[in-house]
Amino acid sequence: MGKVTVVGAGNVGATCAECVARAEVTNEVVMVDIKENFAEGKALDQWETSPVNYFSTRITGSTNDYSKTANSDVVVITSGIPRRPGMSRDDLIATNAGIVKTVTEQVVAASPNAIIIVVSNPLDVMTYQAYVTSKFPSQRVMGMAGILDTARYRSFLSLELNVSPKDIQAVLMGGHGDTMVPLPRYTTVSGIPVTEMLDDATIERIVNRTKKGGGEIVNLLGTSGWYAPGASAAQMVTAILRDEKRIFPACAYLEGQYGLSNMFLGVPVKLGRKGIEEIIELKLNDAEMTLLKDSAQAVNAVVDVLKGMNI
Ligand code: NAI
Ligand code: 2OP
Repeated sequence: MGKVTVVGAGNVGATCAECVARAEVTNEVVMVDIKENFAEGKALDQWETSPVNYFSTRITGSTNDYSKTANSDVVVITSGIPRRPGMSRDDLIATNAGIVKTVTEQVVAASPNAIIIVVSNPLDVMTYQAYVTSKFPSQRVMGMAGILDTARYRSFLSLELNVSPKDIQAVLMGGHGDTMVPLPRYTTVSGIPVTEMLDDATIERIVNRTKKGGGEIVNLLGTSGWYAPGASAAQMVTAILRDEKRIFPACAYLEGQYGLSNMFLGVPVKLGRKGIEEIIELKLNDAEMTLLKDSAQAVNAVVDVLKGMNI
């Protein structure tokens, strides 16, 4: 049934590990953290929920010992720091890129056939870093942001419409940040276009709330969220291990799609046992394409900062 490693047993990593364990899509989940005994403690606490929450997935932790992660099928990388007050964007990039690079080297040595899902921020750039370091085919390296961002968008729409979030389908593209591109034209409520149910101003308000969704949680909690991010990463793990061929927005390597090349950006993909099995090219209109190109430019500007650091 496979083995899953989650690097970083912090808020997002531990939530993701728990969601994967409870979904019973794999026999074994291993959490790794650099903090002494942190992953071990969280894993033991989670394992002690197994008789109550009724799952059999073995969940263990390790302090930086990647031999315990050997031959994982999927590895989720959540290690990194969130941006703190007074910290520049460049400091964050340098710190997290260094962490993602070191972690990826160890992941690749232990699990050369794994599929890597990056969660660490800045997401699109850290996914690029993991791709370069791993030297894996691009099909096996991706970033999680689109499921989270569409989940926020769908949950806000469900509140506005007073309908179940289950019935809202949506796609969203671009980088994980203010330049993300929600697509109301491709948003439906059980097949009914949302544009027939809400006026333009209301949709615009919800799109803007979605773009700032990460910040809204930070303002409330003083740190970024973890329930929705962890569950979203776990949904990608499930789609891969179960070979579900699900269509999700994910951060994927583009080679000419949407006129963009040699970069990672959020696009709709098909996820299955081989990783990203297809990148789906929507027929965007001119306005949507302009927003996507602007988002790509913003991501590339951060990639340029990273390249200048020679990490
Ligand atoms: P956290 O601080 O709770 O957890 C991070 C963990 O990484 C800590 O336990 C830390 O000890 C560990 N760590 C640091 N360096 C390590 C290393 N070299 N090896 C192994 N573990 C290491 O942070 P949280 O909230 O879990 O966020 C993690 C990352 O995910 C951040 O960069 C955050 O910005 C990002 N994030 C991304 C989202 C997305 O949509 N892509 C959504 C939410 C968070
Ligand atoms: C989020 O969107 C900050 O990436 C993090 O919650």
